[in-house]
Amino acid sequence: MGGIRFYFCLILHISVFHYNDAAVRFANYYANHMVLQKAPAQAHIWGTGGAVGQSVTVVMDGKTVATLAANDAGVWEVLLPATVAGGPHNISVTSNGTTVSLRDVLFGDVWICSGQSNMEYSMNGIQNYSALVTTAMQRNNLRIFRLDHNAVNRPTKEPAIVFTWQAPGQDWQTDYFSAVCLIFAIELSQNLTQPFGMVETNWGGTPVEAWSSPEALAACPQQKKKRAMDPNLPSVLYNGMIAPILPMTIFGAIWYQGESNAGRPHLYACQFKAMISDWRTKFHQASKNQTSNMFPFGFVQLAPFRNTTIKAGFSDIRWAQTAEYGYVPNPTLTNVFMAVAMDLPDYDSPQGSIHPRYKEDIAARLALGARGVAYGQKNIDYQGPFPTRFSLTGQRMTIEYDNGNSDIAIRTTNGFEICCGPTESQVCQATGWIAAPISGHGPTSVTLDNSGCHGNSHIVAGVRYAWEESPCDFKKCAVYGLGTNLPAPPFVKNAPFN
Ligand SMILES: *[C@@H]1O[C@H](CO)[C@@H](O)[C@H](O)[C@H]1NC(C)=O
Ligand SMILES: *[C@@H]1O[C@H](CO)[C@@H](O)[C@H](O)[C@H]1NC(C)=O
Ligand SMILES: *[C@@H]1O[C@H](CO)[C@@H](O)[C@H](O)[C@H]1NC(C)=O
Ligand SMILES: *[C@@H]1O[C@H](CO)[C@@H](O)[C@H](O)[C@H]1NC(C)=O
Ligand SMILES: *[C@@H]1O[C@H](CO)[C@@H](O)[C@H](O)[C@H]1NC(C)=O
Ligand SMILES: *[C@@H]1O[C@H](CO)[C@@H](O)[C@H](O)[C@H]1NC(C)=O
Repeated sequence: MGGIRFYFCLILHISVFHYNDAAVRFANYYANHMVLQKAPAQAHIWGTGGAVGQSVTVVMDGKTVATLAANDAGVWEVLLPATVAGGPHNISVTSNGTTVSLRDVLFGDVWICSGQSNMEYSMNGIQNYSALVTTAMQRNNLRIFRLDHNAVNRPTKEPAIVFTWQAPGQDWQTDYFSAVCLIFAIELSQNLTQPFGMVETNWGGTPVEAWSSPEALAACPQQKKKRAMDPNLPSVLYNGMIAPILPMTIFGAIWYQGESNAGRPHLYACQFKAMISDWRTKFHQASKNQTSNMFPFGFVQLAPFRNTTIKAGFSDIRWAQTAEYGYVPNPTLTNVFMAVAMDLPDYDSPQGSIHPRYKEDIAARLALGARGVAYGQKNIDYQGPFPTRFSLTGQRMTIEYDNGNSDIAIRTTNGFEICCGPTESQVCQATGWIAAPISGHGPTSVTLDNSGCHGNSHIVAGVRYAWEESPCDFKKCAVYGLGTNLPAPPFVKNAPFN
């Protein structure tokens, strides 16, 4: 307790520190080789050290873009002119005779990559690691920046940093950069010829509560926790690893997290939605409205874990991640996209089966979602098949996908389950589900064998799909898009069906 109180005092002391006496500088995450957000947004930059009574002059490519005064605390901030994708540009600030400069600055899209260990899972842990780094190096317009772990009780102004902006492959640190984050950018850059700035801010083993501000937490019921100061505590990673970068204008965020919340999945739907909404509001405000308050948000729906038939925890989180719709975007999660990953088990992963090595598949599926949702590309088929109609006749249920508009492929007959009861309106419980194998299929529909639900007093009250921690072998779940090879996501549907 004494330790925590001391900590509070220390932070308060720092927050009233004035920068007026120090030489002018940029905040620590504005650095050479960085990517700033391109037009139509304006990049927001800030720094410290404006001398009292002296102005701060900001110059871009030899042209003065702003002359301003630092505030009473010695902090200056400015919106740069909206600048089209490309570069390199030079940006400098001068005050009281001191000039500091950033060179090789590109304008493009800045993406935040956050979550727990599967986002942190590094490039050198995947099989095609060196080929991918070589590909990334050939794209001079990809830049990476990694924040360090930092769990604190109050929002910080500047983050702890592992390395500031650099091109991938420039030094050994790329080995330890997030694989999902970098490969997502490589995938996007294959279609969008513009710079991408990728910001890694994540910490293995951490729950969603740690990444949520007090305002986001207040929007949902919480589970009380009494633990020592650690990265699992509410808001501590928001304070140390999100709050300091809120002023930077960004394009969007990707997220791979949820394993650490699998023990209390019923809270997650509210918490996840609240965190997304709160991040959007806070990035918007701190960037002087330049980051969209509806910025695109992508996530990885949880991958498999152990080779078991456990039907709770991960399966519940997957459903909660979609706000219980089964797909995104949806009316609750707008401008949100996902990569379905429940068909990518890797029980022999050297880093444990909780860490499947198939980050290339995941990043490719995520980038496809980004193209469809974040970049609004038309005619991109970025979602796996989803049921649109259920019909129940006798011992058979037929499920039609995507209103019959796109063909499906069936790779196994297992994966569907039904719950049975005396009335259609019975509530299906966590247990009591029985297998309903696929007995036939058409180009856009499957037919299930409901005969397990036998007897006059037993009728089908619910149906669900892929509702297991690890529902199938590698890329061998039951339903895929024929043209896309994208897996149908898990769902649960209660009666009535017709
Ligand atoms: C401004 O620069 C002059 C000359 O280097 C220095 O003596 C003075 O202390 C500086 N003023 C402030 C407020 O930093
Ligand atoms: C940026 O600065 C470098 C080195 O001073 C210079 O060679 C280059 O022309 C500058 N670029 C622009 C766009 O002004
Ligand atoms: C590595 O790349 C090759 C060729 O692109 C691909 O066939 C293979 O699936 C990749 N391996 C993994 C583990 O993703
Ligand atoms: C990117 O994808 C879109 C949609 O499929 C396509 O029209 C466009 O030609 C692609 N651009 C590049 C550079 O591949
Ligand atoms: C941001 O937008 C809000 C309204 O949405 C407005 O009240 C506020 O003045 C704007 N702030 C800036 C810095 O433009
Ligand atoms: C998963 O466990 C089952 C039952 O023990 C076993 O038959 C199967 O081979 C295992 N699958 C893999 C991929 O290890």
